[in-house]
Amino acid sequence: AKSVGKNQERTLAIIKPDAIRHLGEIISAVYENGFNIARMRMVKLSQNEVMYFYSEHKTKDFFPRLCEFMTSGPLVAMELVGPDAVNRWRSMIGPTDTQRAREQGSHLLRARFGTDGTRNALHGSDSASSAQREISFFFGSKYGVNTACYNDTTCC
Ligand code: PPS
Repeated sequence: AKSVGKNQERTLAIIKPDAIRHLGEIISAVYENGFNIARMRMVKLSQNEVMYFYSEHKTKDFFPRLCEFMTSGPLVAMELVGPDAVNRWRSMIGPTDTQRAREQGSHLLRARFGTDGTRNALHGSDSASSAQREISFFFGSKYGVNTACYNDTTCC
């Protein structure tokens, strides 16, 4: 396996339910911008899982809308690796609101694939410590590969 250089950082990206049909273009953009994808997972989260993932926003007025949207279909979580990954991925996707992203540049991924203030296509961790927590959420032991699955032909 390719070794990860010293200045490499990790972040957690999510392709949200509204953008899942653009999976191919988004993965291309990820590699074109010098990231590697360490791990990737498509999953449909439950209401409780989404509420836990976004628990820091539980008092915000948009919280119910956010949770409803994020459980509306499957999403793809990706662990991205690259130099300055946290900040670089955030600047590639652009501001939270799709309309504001469009004003800032049509190359921004939220401008390209987002719809509005809620359906904004993509997520990126806001700090290295959030990234660590969010990567464990999707890829840690609780949600890790269920080895029992390999012996169960009916489950996947
Ligand atoms: S804050 O208040 O500055 O912390 O909020 P912000 O960082 O902009 O957004 C936090 C996450 O909530 C989502 N969000 C919304 N969802 C639904 N509706 C509305 N109006 C809304 N506003 C913000 C936003 O997309 C952030 O989630 P992620 O997954 O990081 O995109």
